[in-house]
Amino acid sequence: LGAGPLAGRHVLVTSGPTHEPIDPVRYIANRSSGAQGAALAAALRDLGARVSFVTGPATVPPPHGVTVAPVQTAAEMLAAVEAHLPADAAVFAAAVADWRVDGAAAQKIKKGADGPPALRMAENPDILATVARMGAGRPALVVGFAAETEHVAEHATAKRLRKGCDWIVANDVSPATGIMGGAENAVTLITDAGAEVWPRLPKSEVARRLAARIAEALAP
Ligand code: C5P
Repeated sequence: LGAGPLAGRHVLVTSGPTHEPIDPVRYIANRSSGAQGAALAAALRDLGARVSFVTGPATVPPPHGVTVAPVQTAAEMLAAVEAHLPADAAVFAAAVADWRVDGAAAQKIKKGADGPPALRMAENPDILATVARMGAGRPALVVGFAAETEHVAEHATAKRLRKGCDWIVANDVSPATGIMGGAENAVTLITDAGAEVWPRLPKSEVARRLAARIAEALAP
């Protein structure tokens, strides 16, 4: 067994964007770099946890010393998460696409006389809410993220209740902050005790502080 406050613990982390296919060569995605999720997985590993890292196609590479489950779509991410449970804690840092193209084309859609294709969208499963509302087998600690551009604490507090998770790590991603894709993060941690505004910190330091809090919460 390894050392550290999370030795013998299993923590699952989702990270990165998802890619939702339109056809075999095109997809819908978002601008998540996966930097905060990767930093968090590394910090949990450093505290001794066994980490399952379920990641979409991120620009930041996954850390060493964790079990990597690479996925493309939200549906694949949900399946990989379920396959890696049970866990003592689960942290959902992925920027999952809210919608997928309903019935992606099996062949490349050709440009033609019909004009641009009308894409019909279907709603993706909410992975965080699915795990947070599991009965038996629910991780003892379920943590979600919330990317907000205004009223951060209020929106995130409502999200915590709506999703049924224990904590929400809310960050202000309004373009002026430069946080999305950047090296720093300014987060507010929402728990049942209220909202804690953290100073603007490198994503690695946000990860270390969050991992330490997770270790505290799981301590016997
Ligand atoms: O509702 P919203 O997308 O803002 O919620 C963000 C949180 O929910 C994040 O923790 C994200 O990883 C998670 N999420 C998810 N599955 C989805 C959408 C969001 O796990 N389909």
